[in-house]
Amino acid sequence: KAPNSLVEFIKAQKANPERFIQLPADTKYLGVIKAAVNKYQRKAWDGIVVIGIGGSNLGTLAIWRALRGKKEIGFAETLDARRLDRILRHINENTLVIIVSKSGTTAETVANAAVILDKIQNPEQVVAITDENSKLWDWAKKNSFGVIPVPKEVGGRYSVFSAVGLFPLAMAGVKIEKLVAGAANFTSACLDPEVAKNPAALSALQIFKYWQGGKPIHDTFIFEPDLEAFGKWYRQLTGESVGKDGKGITPTVSIGTTDLHSVAQLYLGGPRDKFTTFISVTDHGKDFAIKSRSGIEELAPDLAGNKFGEMLAVIYGGVVATYKKRKIPFLEIHLAEISEEALGALMQMKMIEMMYLGKLMGVNPFDQPEVELYKEEVSRLLHNL
Ligand code: PA5
Repeated sequence: KAPNSLVEFIKAQKANPERFIQLPADTKYLGVIKAAVNKYQRKAWDGIVVIGIGGSNLGTLAIWRALRGKKEIGFAETLDARRLDRILRHINENTLVIIVSKSGTTAETVANAAVILDKIQNPEQVVAITDENSKLWDWAKKNSFGVIPVPKEVGGRYSVFSAVGLFPLAMAGVKIEKLVAGAANFTSACLDPEVAKNPAALSALQIFKYWQGGKPIHDTFIFEPDLEAFGKWYRQLTGESVGKDGKGITPTVSIGTTDLHSVAQLYLGGPRDKFTTFISVTDHGKDFAIKSRSGIEELAPDLAGNKFGEMLAVIYGGVVATYKKRKIPFLEIHLAEISEEALGALMQMKMIEMMYLGKLMGVNPFDQPEVELYKEEVSRLLHNL
């Protein structure tokens, strides 16, 4: 049963949604992104580099890894000199460099940009995605780089459907129209004040209920390795959105079937401190038959004649049944396939879920005061270097 305050909040959001919720259907703003995509697609780039960290690259990485975009993207995020060296070796006059930073002043992003831009002669190879009139915006303009705005009211970890995610993904060959269509088509269900029909609110309520009942860990257990980066995106969304004021949910990400052989023992036999969301996918796009003629039945008699997909479904079913037997609470999300539409819907649902979770927990899901705190401390220390 949903508290009245949540139902009222959903009604208010339905009438006047947060800016991030509106992005997938904001044709005017999408037009700005598409115009930039059309302009930059005139050149045949042979590689793309995205410089950004946290909310400025995790959503892009999640979608690109899941869909395996047609063009390579090199992600320069943390201060990883070896990775940066590999990226630098691929940079030439046909590399598009995209700098993503809402503030425009994040230390890692500026440091990576400084090294990478040293190898770039032509300003037409560089695009900055940032808040209008940020320091990065002004600096990019001064250097004749391209600029694409991010709406000010959209926070980093809620910005995947702004230019932050859409521009690099489109340049890498991801069908962004389908991505935003998937998100837009699922939005009204996630804003339905009838909570029983609202997947985002139902999920938030479950996570909240078990958090209140002494389960501070939320494990997203994904039976599809290509969604691991999605898991990391969701980890940031949870960590920064509801981890504050002494409250918080610790997000973990597990991958099936791999982690059945690493952490399943802990999950099933260890402390009862977790709530789990299972994510499974029906169509994996490819399948393999396990042939009997190789005599494999001598090792595992029931395997021969089955397909990978069937085996995976059986293992998934076995895990869920064990959780049930052990009375370990969980909810399930099934995706028919990994497609632009499905990912768009899933990510929009998860961002709205997080907003509801913030409301239920009594914290502001849109700020990150402690992140700002350490950023200030770092800049003070850098100043004194
Ligand atoms: O979600 C957030 O707000 C943060 O994770 C930021 O995205 C991250 O710190 C990077 O900030 P910026 O985009 O200003 O470089």
